[in-house]
Amino acid sequence: MPENDNVLVGFGYKDDAGVYKINDDTCLIQTVDFFTPVVDDPYSFGQIAAANALSDVYAMGGRPLTALNIACFPINDVEKEVFNLILLGGLDKIKEAGAALLGGHSIDDKEIKYGLSVTGICGIDEIYSNQGAERGDVLYLAKSLGTGFVVSAICTDFLNENTLDEATQSMSKLNKYASELAVSLKAPNAITDVTGFGLIGHLSEMMIASGTCCEIYLQSLPVISGVSELIKKGINPAGTKRNRKYFTKYASVKDGLDENLLWIAFGAETSGGLIFSVPEDKTPETEKMFKIKGEPLYKIGRVLDKNVKDGIYISII
Ligand code: CO
Ligand code: CO
Repeated sequence: MPENDNVLVGFGYKDDAGVYKINDDTCLIQTVDFFTPVVDDPYSFGQIAAANALSDVYAMGGRPLTALNIACFPINDVEKEVFNLILLGGLDKIKEAGAALLGGHSIDDKEIKYGLSVTGICGIDEIYSNQGAERGDVLYLAKSLGTGFVVSAICTDFLNENTLDEATQSMSKLNKYASELAVSLKAPNAITDVTGFGLIGHLSEMMIASGTCCEIYLQSLPVISGVSELIKKGINPAGTKRNRKYFTKYASVKDGLDENLLWIAFGAETSGGLIFSVPEDKTPETEKMFKIKGEPLYKIGRVLDKNVKDGIYISII
């Protein structure tokens, strides 16, 4: 990989987005994300795909400036109206983010796919990466878990409407509000978002990057209502099984914990919430301000010293 001094966060970092220094004050944040439909309603799918793509800018503490549509669509097999609704859902989220849609590219494809390439901006001293978590920090999560299980239950009879509504609202919600609030308080030492690798996967990336470990209080994880019931019915997405198989090596699990909750901790998320690592002395103000603004914030664990002995980065207790 050619070296470039302006690349502050690049390919090898496993961070949420790339960061490039454009002058002594400002850096550019760039990210791209797209996927196949996660819900049946085209407008909601557009909103979710856009919220998900925008999230990686918020996970760096940045502000989205511009976006480009990326779309694949079966032109001859699906009504044009469906395509328009997907793009409209995306556009509404781009506007809510305060960003501008500059254009995009679409191609004919067998399967619908949609997402965005997003460019954001942040001050050079204001980048929040997934490294920087420190011993003693409190770990917070800003959205409930379980969207992946809901998405894979959509074609089954098990899914009730309340669970689908709660998941759809959560997935389409921008991480803008939580990010801006936390950044305005200068609260976090590190930020990341929870997406395909699940809570444990993204947390282990944060711990490895920070050279720390953490403990997670399994019972305190916020979960979308009805998700445990879906797991009891046998809903378990392939991505979640892969996550548990792969990230298990970084986690120790206390005996006797709830097996369904463990699956949720490893569960692949779609447009999941932000994780904040916040120093203890900033937690009272952080909790107070999130409460005042009506933004959810769940205390899920604590950062500990690095446990070099056995490569375990997360103790699930
Ligand atoms: Co991310
Ligand atoms: Co991404």
